[in-house]
Amino acid sequence: MQEETPKQGFDTMTDNATIQVQNGEVPESPNIKARKPDPCALVIFGITGDLAKRKLIPALYHLALGGSLPEDLAVIGFSRSASDAEELRANLYEAAKSFSRSKSVDPEIWARFIARVDCVAGGADDPAAYQALKEKLAEADEKFGSKGNRLYYLSVAPSIFPTILGRLKEADLVFEPGSKGQRWSRVIVEKPFGHDRASAHELNSLVGQVLDERQTYRIDHYLGKETVQNILTFRFANTIFEPLWNNKYIDHIQVTAAEELLVSGRGTFYDQTGVGRDIIQNHLLQVLGLILMEPPVSLDGDHVRDQKVQAIQALRSVAEGDAVFGQYEGFLQVDGVAPGSRTPTYMAIKTWVDNWRWSGVPIYLRAGKAMEGRDTEVAIVFKEVPSYLFGQGLKPNVLVLQIQPNEGITLHFSSKVPGDDLNIGYVEMDMKYSQAFERKPGDAYERLLLDGMRGDSTLFARRDEIDEAWRWIDPVLKGWESGTTPMPVYAPGQNGPAEGDALIERDGRSWRSIE
Ligand code: BG6
Repeated sequence: MQEETPKQGFDTMTDNATIQVQNGEVPESPNIKARKPDPCALVIFGITGDLAKRKLIPALYHLALGGSLPEDLAVIGFSRSASDAEELRANLYEAAKSFSRSKSVDPEIWARFIARVDCVAGGADDPAAYQALKEKLAEADEKFGSKGNRLYYLSVAPSIFPTILGRLKEADLVFEPGSKGQRWSRVIVEKPFGHDRASAHELNSLVGQVLDERQTYRIDHYLGKETVQNILTFRFANTIFEPLWNNKYIDHIQVTAAEELLVSGRGTFYDQTGVGRDIIQNHLLQVLGLILMEPPVSLDGDHVRDQKVQAIQALRSVAEGDAVFGQYEGFLQVDGVAPGSRTPTYMAIKTWVDNWRWSGVPIYLRAGKAMEGRDTEVAIVFKEVPSYLFGQGLKPNVLVLQIQPNEGITLHFSSKVPGDDLNIGYVEMDMKYSQAFERKPGDAYERLLLDGMRGDSTLFARRDEIDEAWRWIDPVLKGWESGTTPMPVYAPGQNGPAEGDALIERDGRSWRSIE
């Protein structure tokens, strides 16, 4: 029997039937219902690490709380230090209490969830540990009904991916789609996916020796955020925005990812990564891809990603002088940061998109740590109206997609101030998720873990997207790293160095304020 090819995209619920949205098939109802996740065993490599504690375990707990986890799920942690299952369970409980978004843990739900969690202690390169894992997985199939389906989450340094994948393959724990009937094995890999284009290519090739692309889930947690998913719906489920979504009406686009956070505690990692590899290459380009892409022919995962990759492909190489780097004061004193490091904690870039729709529209991107506030947003700034009626000085329309916090969408426009005089005020139409919907958005990891169990890779980055993103940013980063220009420094709480503001101001435009 052949393994069912994982279906991408969504199912559409009609009154009494579920149909797959496919090319040419028109959904009958706007309620597009996500498929139920399959029974499976989730194996977390790096279960004692930071990501598991802060994100994965709280996400699993919330899925259990919301009744979304498959009843027949088993969770197995794999780590050198996970030798005692009881101790691990106790630590995971502490993690869920500290980091769960509800700030509390329901004892009954937790007890039911944690009863499904076990562990295997071992090094990533130890064949005996994979035999122990194999036995645990067979037990889990018996005890919990996980049906031989395996979802591996590699929450470890990318340098260890090839070792783990090689050992899994050797132990017959990952297998080609279709080779074991209905059973499936999938692998979620964490970013950063490579350090530059060449290393990403090498890593992709190593991963490709063990896994088929259909089994490879490269996570970018921004794609799991409701506000990012909503970009597609906002653009393509409304008639009024798409006709304006081009160079005829749009003056420029600004994308900002500002964090108040400092790097503290992650010095070694961050010093090798910097904001370009940590945020821009992945999170920001994924968001930008959704903003710039053409309409896909269906919501099928590959159709969406085909369009996204084409948009990233159309990004023009960044011209000299169009990228600004900065480092916050104090970064060099963070533990793990090399003396005199040139790693940027702030970057601003101006770029262009070489295609029909966006020709002539500059795109400004900026991301930074230690900024004035936390603010991730996309601002679509429209062209000015002709001045002959109201004179100069009217502010342009701006549509802001507020990714986080205060998730929402705001349209800024001009309006007459009541009174005899003709005064023009600048007002807002504002949609806040917290007011518009009763249901609170879940954490991105909740959605992405479920999608892994469903076999839906729509919200994961494909190999060609990663490659194109590196193609664009690699020369910018390498140029800076090999250069000798002094590093612009900014005080924490300032929104990057003055050079970042100058990048946009020299074009007669300005960054939106960070709220
Ligand atoms: C991670 C980066 O991928 O994203 C972190 O490694 C960053 O440095 C984080 O702080 C931001 O995520 P979010 O969801 O808080 O915007």
